[in-house]
Amino acid sequence: MRLPPPRGPVTEELFARLARPPGTALPEPPTGAASPLDDDDLQLALFACYELHYQGFDGVDDLWEWDPALLRHRAELERRFESALAEAVPRPLPVPPSHVRRALTALVAADDAAGGPSLSLFLQREAGPEVFREFVVHRSVYHLKEADPHTWGIPRLRGRAKAALVEIQADEYGGGRRERMHSELFRATMRAVGLDDSYGAYVPHVPGVTLAVSNVMSLFGLHRRLRGALLGHLAALEMTSSLPNRRYAAGLRRLGGDATAARFYEEHVQADAVHEQIAASDLCGGFAAAHPELTGDVLYGAACALALERRWAGHVMARWERGGTSLLGEPVAA
Ligand SMILES: [Fe+2]
Ligand SMILES: [Fe+2]
Repeated sequence: MRLPPPRGPVTEELFARLARPPGTALPEPPTGAASPLDDDDLQLALFACYELHYQGFDGVDDLWEWDPALLRHRAELERRFESALAEAVPRPLPVPPSHVRRALTALVAADDAAGGPSLSLFLQREAGPEVFREFVVHRSVYHLKEADPHTWGIPRLRGRAKAALVEIQADEYGGGRRERMHSELFRATMRAVGLDDSYGAYVPHVPGVTLAVSNVMSLFGLHRRLRGALLGHLAALEMTSSLPNRRYAAGLRRLGGDATAARFYEEHVQADAVHEQIAASDLCGGFAAAHPELTGDVLYGAACALALERRWAGHVMARWERGGTSLLGEPVAA
């Protein structure tokens, strides 16, 4: 993937440095006007810093990944992101380890009850092909690296929680069969709706509110101190996946998508009905039993996942209701 175009002073400075060999200091990133959770410039800068730990960028020296000046720069961006999250997402009270599963279910139910327009129902019943394609563009930022951010958690766990995370991740990676990897299934969906399936192709098109959904996983995944939040985040994803994916599949079929196009979504209806059980009971329950002091972190991670997803859905629905694009600039052509 190539470095995307910069979006403001933070990415202008950062991307100019990344094009050169590492070893020079980076200035303190200037403060943006928008909230860090939606700030296009800050979220793209953070995304790029994290991407150095995944696939990297064409023409960017791999040594940047652990360059001390870059890590200091990233730490400042993370500090702003974390404090904005702390402000926006009330921290759930800790619960006894045996209540973690119930508390996760309650968080998901409360988020559901909060209402608002349902993105999945809209995609199922009303969205036209251009809008569905936009939805796929937004989601491609995460689905083309599906499961990778939570995999950082594996070496940080022991016992029951570790076994549970490996079981979930093995499914996400297709049980070792490339054609069944969820990221590969998603590439087939992208091709079917006329999109470029190459990694990172649409990063330049998505706003900060979309990048934040991905960045929070990397934040939790790359810091051992946040491992409880990482597990709660995964549990929230799995617990809110089965029904929406059934609707996305129905929407895509309504628009003429075939079995190959819809397979990614249909696969998640079944797989995530199982994953949500493993994630809530064995992963989060097992982790909480071993670390009773971290149950609040597990619930906070779940709350962050739900809140950022809600912000993102609010953004795209508001744009679509006005008949506009939810992406940056022009709509993406098929
Ligand atoms: Fe998946
Ligand atoms: Fe899953």
